[in-house]
Amino acid sequence: LYRFPLIKVRGIPLMCHIADNWDSIWAFCPDPSDILIATYPKAGTTWVQEIVDLLLHNGDAEVARRAPTLERNPFLEMYSPPPIPSGLSLLKRMEPPRVIKTHLAFQLVPEGFWEKKCKAIYVARNAKDNLVSYYHFDQMNQTQPEPGPWEGYIHKFMNGELSWGSWYDHVKEYWKEREKRNILYLFYEDMKEDPRREVERIMRYLDLSLNDDVISRIVELTSFNTMKDNPMANYSCIPKVVFDQSISPFMRKGVVGDWTNYFSPEQNELFDEDYKQQMEDVNIPFRTNI
Ligand code: A3P
Repeated sequence: LYRFPLIKVRGIPLMCHIADNWDSIWAFCPDPSDILIATYPKAGTTWVQEIVDLLLHNGDAEVARRAPTLERNPFLEMYSPPPIPSGLSLLKRMEPPRVIKTHLAFQLVPEGFWEKKCKAIYVARNAKDNLVSYYHFDQMNQTQPEPGPWEGYIHKFMNGELSWGSWYDHVKEYWKEREKRNILYLFYEDMKEDPRREVERIMRYLDLSLNDDVISRIVELTSFNTMKDNPMANYSCIPKVVFDQSISPFMRKGVVGDWTNYFSPEQNELFDEDYKQQMEDVNIPFRTNI
C-alpha cells in the first residue's frame, strides 16, 4: 500500500516524509531535561525506551501500560501520512521530562540536544543480528522500501542503502562522540547477558536511585516475554496496513545469534571481510557470539 521511497538528506537515505519535512526536524529545539534514545533501527530501541520509562516512574507497571510506546516516547523525525501524528506534534503536547526516540545518524541529530547537554542513550547491536532483525522488519513494515531477497538485502546493508543509512557509520559516529557528549553507549548483547546490570547502569546515568525490589520489577516488566504480551509495548496499536505483524511480529525473537540461521558460510565470509574494512578505524567491543 505505501512502500515509500527513500530520499537522501546530507547523504543519508531517509523515508521521503522525513526528507520532505527535514527543515522542521532539524530546527527542533529540545528542553535540557529531554532524554534522547538513539539507535540504528532494530538495535533494541523499544526495550530501552521501556526501561527508561519505568525508571522515571519508579517501576510503576501502570505507567508502562498507560499508552503505546510511540505516544509515550515520541519518534523525533517520524512523519507518516495522516492520521498518524508526527513526532514533533506529539512532542509539542508533552510535559518535560520527555523521552525522545531517534534513529538519526549522529550528524543529523538537531544540535540543540548537545548544546543543552541533554542526556542521550545509544544502543548498538551486533551487525549480523541487527541486519537479520531489520530484514524481517522491512517485510512487515509496509512504509519501508521492499527488502527484496535476502542475498541482495545483505548487500544493501553493507552498502548503507537501507533507511537511516549505514549501520557502520551510525555505530561509529556515536562511539566517537560518546565521551565529548556524555552519551551512555549500551550494547544489546550486554543487556541480554545481564539485564539487571544494564538497568542499573541506565539508572545511574539518569541520576536515579531506586531500591532493589523496584529494579527487580523493572527487569521483569522489560523482559522479552512480558513486552511481547504487552499491547502498549508490542506495537499492536499500529494498524495492519502499516505493520503487518502476521508477516513477522515486532517482538520477533529477541535473542543474540539468530544470524547463524540466515547467513550461509559464503555470505558470512564476505560479510566478515567487508566488516573488517569498514570498522578498521575504530575498536568497538561488539560481541557477535554469546
Ligand atoms: P528481533 O527482530 O531480533 O527479535 P527496535 O525496538 O530497535 O525496533 O528493536 C527490535 C528488536 O529488539 C527485535 O529484535 C525485538 O524482538 C527486540 N526486543 C524488543 N524488546 C526486547 C526485550 N525486552 N528483550 C530482548 N529483545 C527485545
